[in-house]
Amino acid sequence: MMNKPPRTLFITGFTGTLGKEFVKEILLTTEDRLYLLIRRQNRFSHWDRARKIFLACGLQYLLGTRVHVLEGDVTLPGFGLRPEEIEEIRSKVQEFYHIAALTALNGSEEECNRINTGGTEKALELAWDFLKQGRLERFFYFSTAYVSGSRQTFCAREDELTPEPAHANYYESSKYEAEKKVRLAMAEGMPATIFRPSIVVGNSTTGEVSEFNVIYPFIKLFAHGILTRLPTRLENSFNIVPIDFVIRASLAIAKTKDSIGKTFHLVTEDPPSIGELMKLKEAEYPSSPEIVIVPPEEFKPEALGFESQMVFQMLEPYLGYLNDHLTFETANTRRALEGTGVALPKTDYNFLKTLLKYATDQGYLLV
Ligand SMILES: NC(=O)c1ccc[n+]([C@@H]2O[C@H](COP(=O)([O-])OP(=O)(O)OC[C@H]3O[C@@H](n4cnc5c(N)ncnc54)[C@H](OP(=O)(O)O)[C@@H]3O)[C@@H](O)[C@H]2O)c1
Repeated sequence: MMNKPPRTLFITGFTGTLGKEFVKEILLTTEDRLYLLIRRQNRFSHWDRARKIFLACGLQYLLGTRVHVLEGDVTLPGFGLRPEEIEEIRSKVQEFYHIAALTALNGSEEECNRINTGGTEKALELAWDFLKQGRLERFFYFSTAYVSGSRQTFCAREDELTPEPAHANYYESSKYEAEKKVRLAMAEGMPATIFRPSIVVGNSTTGEVSEFNVIYPFIKLFAHGILTRLPTRLENSFNIVPIDFVIRASLAIAKTKDSIGKTFHLVTEDPPSIGELMKLKEAEYPSSPEIVIVPPEEFKPEALGFESQMVFQMLEPYLGYLNDHLTFETANTRRALEGTGVALPKTDYNFLKTLLKYATDQGYLLV
């Protein structure tokens, strides 16, 4: 569907779960030209990494034509780009998508702040330069629905950032500080748009996902019987959102001028409950290890065996997602998606089944 003249985009975070699918979708549905910022990984150059990903999806022929890759690190001033590279981006790029982040929920305070808050600060510095002296028209920032903090009962509004967050981990707090910087820039005239996905999981129809991260390792510990007691309640829900919705919705919203200066919750309005997950486990995986649901106030980690205690400590930053009472306003998202053919996602029993089936078929979860 080629419905607007080709644009030139600058994108960080391409090698990540969202970034990869995001770039693929743009390449397959538009004629846009892309500059991708990629960091070196051990002995693999930015170029090696890009080639591997593009080869896997059969789009390698676009490298060097529609797609240009640049080595850089979001924590460095100017992302560590060479002056001539900055000059080239400044003179060409119309849209800047800052997707890169440290998403490990157990990341250290120092690393989360350096990459998430510091990286966003560096992105904004570049964006101001491109806006004032170049061709930049839009800045898009991927925040998270959990900027309010997963440890509170709260209805998060789209066009505000709660002044009293209750963060469960340094990922959340560093993304909160990062979004604050984007909102400040927005107030000072940066034509920015903020996307806040909840917990991104596999494709809505196939369950497919390139990396089993965020919530998947948590499920794996229980599926493999490494942990057997879960501090939550059957009626608690968890807000997951299919990756294809996040990508299609953000791209549809990015197309509208009206989305400048706004924030969009990319979430489900009807999150599944722990009870539904347990029902699915019993119906589809009857021989999988038993899971005992324990009300959080009665849960005593010290009563666990030594190994379970160690594992549980690592899980601490995840627990907010099982016990949160957050709801998310979706008025901006609903309005922006009207007439685009993209609808807020269904995350019912069948969707959970599709997700677990994909993870099981890939050998990630035990049957
Ligand atoms: N996944 C979710 O559930 C979720 C939910 C809400 C919001 N989000 C937001 O969506 C965005 C993408 O998430 P994701 O799940 O795709 O994350 P991901 O899979 O962990 O990927 C993170 C990306 O950021 C890059 N990156 C990290 N540090 C960098 C640095 N110092 N310099 C350059 N690049 C760096 C990584 O590059 P390397 O490959 O080199 O590490 C990778 O490309 C993030 O901003 C995240 O906060 C994600």
